[in-house]
Amino acid sequence: MKNYFALSFLLLFLFTGNVKGQKVDYQIVPLPKEIKEGTTGNTPFVLMQSTRIVYPKHNKQMQRNAEFLSEYVKDVTGYSLKIGTRKIKSPAISLTLGLQSSNPEAYSINISEAGIQIQGASEAGVFYGIQALRKSMPIGKYAQIEFPSVEINDYPEFGYRGALLDISRHFFTKEEVKEYIDMMALHNMNRFHWHLTDDQGWRIEIKKYPELTSIGSQRKESQNGYYENHERILKFDGIPHGGFFTQDDIKEVVAYAAERYITIIPEIDLPGHMVSALASYPELGCTGGPYNVWTHWGISEDVLCAGNEKTYQFLTDVFDEIMELFPSTYIHIGGDECPKTRWAQCPKCQAKIKAEGIKSDDKHTKEEYLQSYVMKYMSDYLSEHGRKIIGWDEILEGEAAPGATIMSWRGEAGGIEAARLGHDVIMVPNNYLYLDYYQSKDYESEPYYAIGGYNPVDKIYNYNPLPASLNETEKAHIIGVQANLWTEYIKDFKQVEYMILPRWGAVAEIQWTGGAKDYPAFLKRLDKFVKLYQAKGYTYAKHAFQ
Ligand code: ACM
Ligand code: ZN
Repeated sequence: MKNYFALSFLLLFLFTGNVKGQKVDYQIVPLPKEIKEGTTGNTPFVLMQSTRIVYPKHNKQMQRNAEFLSEYVKDVTGYSLKIGTRKIKSPAISLTLGLQSSNPEAYSINISEAGIQIQGASEAGVFYGIQALRKSMPIGKYAQIEFPSVEINDYPEFGYRGALLDISRHFFTKEEVKEYIDMMALHNMNRFHWHLTDDQGWRIEIKKYPELTSIGSQRKESQNGYYENHERILKFDGIPHGGFFTQDDIKEVVAYAAERYITIIPEIDLPGHMVSALASYPELGCTGGPYNVWTHWGISEDVLCAGNEKTYQFLTDVFDEIMELFPSTYIHIGGDECPKTRWAQCPKCQAKIKAEGIKSDDKHTKEEYLQSYVMKYMSDYLSEHGRKIIGWDEILEGEAAPGATIMSWRGEAGGIEAARLGHDVIMVPNNYLYLDYYQSKDYESEPYYAIGGYNPVDKIYNYNPLPASLNETEKAHIIGVQANLWTEYIKDFKQVEYMILPRWGAVAEIQWTGGAKDYPAFLKRLDKFVKLYQAKGYTYAKHAFQ
């Protein structure tokens, strides 16, 4: 009797495993707002080699969406699904527009025996429906794949779902940046904050200032490891480091991102973090140099001279080319970590302070107000061209330009202050969302150096970007959430992957899902999600699963 049971159990297992096919699981990352199984009947939809993906005629974006879905299905199952604008044979996966929603990125998925319908409030909404379907599918080669009948209704919590990559401290190639963008799409992110310039390298071609790249994109060597006892007794690797994106490269990457519904927000960090520009054009600094592209990390006292008219000419010229290349309404102009040491000593800067009638008060020095002047100058220039600025929270020191969006990185304090002042805010607090921080307290056992800190998956997952101290009107100013990857200690792309994965899973749940937190349930979904990382060949950290 016992053996009979064991045998029938084995047969049943073989039967369900091989013949009936593998089942889809809708518990994905980020979790959709609503998943209702069984409301559209009890019979599953069965995906086969012959299933066709159908999209509306004369819509290039929807055609590209159909191609993405076909590529993703091939990635995970090996099936090659054909795409077309006519439904020649049911059942099919149909991609449609016209979902009624106040959120342009909303989508719904309806699955019954008859087929799969993904409907979006826009093409972007359809794209996120496709991401959801892709993540639901089992990975591997199966005779058939069963989709239990379901109705999914979903939309993002935040319209701005960002990720930063710093390509100044270490350079990453066009192919690597595209891979980063693909990973963003997998995590439903839609704003790529591209940190293009800093003390250690200028990484974008500017036609009017060729030396920014011929000189500013190269450094002699790089700091190797930490400052010893925080003294500048540094070790260096002796290896020259450089690289930059031509304007053609930039256009290619902008288009690549746009196909994936990702807007690239370029950052030209000013007036500090500019040593690579000063090394190229020393007349832009207060002392006139000479300057060298930095080989170590930290904050430079050499910054753009705010009293030199050439600086303003330089900045408007650079941003003219930036605006040509990047269609984004938001342009990031930095504003962080700008010491006022040089300005306090510089006759030109002091003359500018006088000429503009800038005065200190009990809150801020006149040099801090001089920085506000520079930021406002650039903000006015960009807004004359229909753009809006984002700045780091330091731009609140003095007076932030009207209409500036504040990126709160030194914790949440800047974001809270900015929201109260009526500025829009993007939350990127370093104590939660800096992914150059360690994921383990056991630094010694980590495969790579990190900059310090400790931001593990559970801490990130439990972060609430809407501070309890804000009222509802103020909370409405928190328009987005972003995770930053600074690359002082990140030398290659495998390490990039290790630092962001699977922490981006937790970031995606903050950005997209919002709402109540259930860490054990999330961890289960994450455990399934990393199978897709494995299939894609991504390196990821395993601490969360230990
Ligand atoms: C920053 O991390 N300095 C914005
Ligand atoms: Zn100066």
